[in-house]
Amino acid sequence: MQLADDVVAKGNSHGAGRPGDPCVMVIFGASGDLTKRKLIPALYNLAKDNLLSKEFALVGIARNELTSEQFRDEIGKEIGEFATTTVDPDLWHWFSQRIYYHSGDFADAAAYQGLGELLAQIDKEHGTRGNYFYYLATAPSFFGPIITQLGKADLVKEEHGWRRVIIEKPFGHDYESAVALNKEIRQVLNEKQIYRIDHYLGKETVQNILVFRFANGIFEPIWNRRYIDHIQITVAETVGVEQRGGYYEKAGTLRDMVPNHIFQLISLTAMEPPVSFDADVVRDEQAKILKALSPMTDEEVLTRTVRGQYGEGMEGDNRVQGYRAEPYVAPESRTETFVAMKLFIDNWRWADVPFYLRTGKRLPQRATKIVIQFKRAPFVLFRKTAVDQLEPNRLILHLQPDEGISLSFSAKVPGPVVQIGDVDMNFNYTDYFNATPQTGYERLLYDCMLGDATLFQRSDMVETAWHVVAPILDVWEALPPRRFPNYAAGTWGPHEADELLAKDHRHWSNEQ
Ligand code: BG6
Repeated sequence: MQLADDVVAKGNSHGAGRPGDPCVMVIFGASGDLTKRKLIPALYNLAKDNLLSKEFALVGIARNELTSEQFRDEIGKEIGEFATTTVDPDLWHWFSQRIYYHSGDFADAAAYQGLGELLAQIDKEHGTRGNYFYYLATAPSFFGPIITQLGKADLVKEEHGWRRVIIEKPFGHDYESAVALNKEIRQVLNEKQIYRIDHYLGKETVQNILVFRFANGIFEPIWNRRYIDHIQITVAETVGVEQRGGYYEKAGTLRDMVPNHIFQLISLTAMEPPVSFDADVVRDEQAKILKALSPMTDEEVLTRTVRGQYGEGMEGDNRVQGYRAEPYVAPESRTETFVAMKLFIDNWRWADVPFYLRTGKRLPQRATKIVIQFKRAPFVLFRKTAVDQLEPNRLILHLQPDEGISLSFSAKVPGPVVQIGDVDMNFNYTDYFNATPQTGYERLLYDCMLGDATLFQRSDMVETAWHVVAPILDVWEALPPRRFPNYAAGTWGPHEADELLAKDHRHWSNEQ
């Protein structure tokens, strides 16, 4: 990971960086939303920041019959809508000249032969030096078959240039399927060629967790069970399942958000300082945290987890339907759209410190944040204010949408009588750095072009994460929810989520 050539002046958002290697990016599933909404705008931003090699080309593959010209035209029409900055016509022209399309069925060997020929031709035309990376933006059922076919067509052997594969989530559906998928793809690829993407790691503020913790001397000494009472992680969305009912019915919130995005947040918050920023050194430390998240017993699943499903309610001023009325959702669906739980990390730093997490759809705010709540002051110095009436200090990492960090503490209210008030110290990204908005995929694509896998998931991390949630999935499947829907759209989930903390004399931090 490039944290070393990175020290930048205050308020300056760009460190120097060399362009990615010459290469071809091949997108499987090029007609999907991800390509036009995220991948193309991210590549454009890289080109704008001079981080894309001049010897770069892109191939889109999907089943539709299109020519490269038609594909370019389509993307050209959409970029205006999805780019995060104004599109410069000259730069776009340069970029579009290196876009190709190959139509083919992912299961058909002939499609891969044709792809091989196209890649060889692009190498000659654009000097891409045989370096290819394949981005699997497809339904998960294609991950294994595509990689197997790439292997058969000799398109992943690293004889002339490097070959890498980026795999979208979900990686497996449970522990067994993740292990099986790893096994299947490892027949063709070695681990160093595999980039399992988690788009949370592309977010600036998520990457900043490491910088915040390890580039500052003052936080680490108190970052442990001696000073921290508990940690809360909230990933709240106001949207419902939108058009993704088909996928969501099979996944549910637990699978969709917890073993991937939320576990990434936990591991970055809780890991030990790595001895270097080498990919495997950082990931070893993350993996240790995942291994220390002890899987729950059946009894613990019942007392430490909460699931919910939204019924009809409000989104702002608008009345919205319940989950069961959404498109492609069964009228009696038992799928959860909300999860809360209490986890422990069994190691010396975190023993007995609860990590509460919650995530769900149709909650009252869109907010992703990590709240570090410190222990209270130990001594009743102010005789009229009992210590337990003082608000404890909270450090909040606001990851989205208003990125920043705040610290709450007590201060004396001015006046002749000693009165104590709670105040906040706030840092907002936008006050210091005027970075252009990004899609969140720039850094991940760029790192893949440089061969830096730090921000991608290793096989052991994925498998361990599934292992931790497996008992929850099992118990939930064995004991279907008794009362769904159990929270109204626009509220903070079922009341059991509040009780989960209230039992421990704590409460969720809901303020923005
Ligand atoms: C995706 C999930 O991985 O992450 C979605 O499949 C979820 O259900 C999304 O809405 C949240 O991502 P973000 O970047 O909007 O927080």
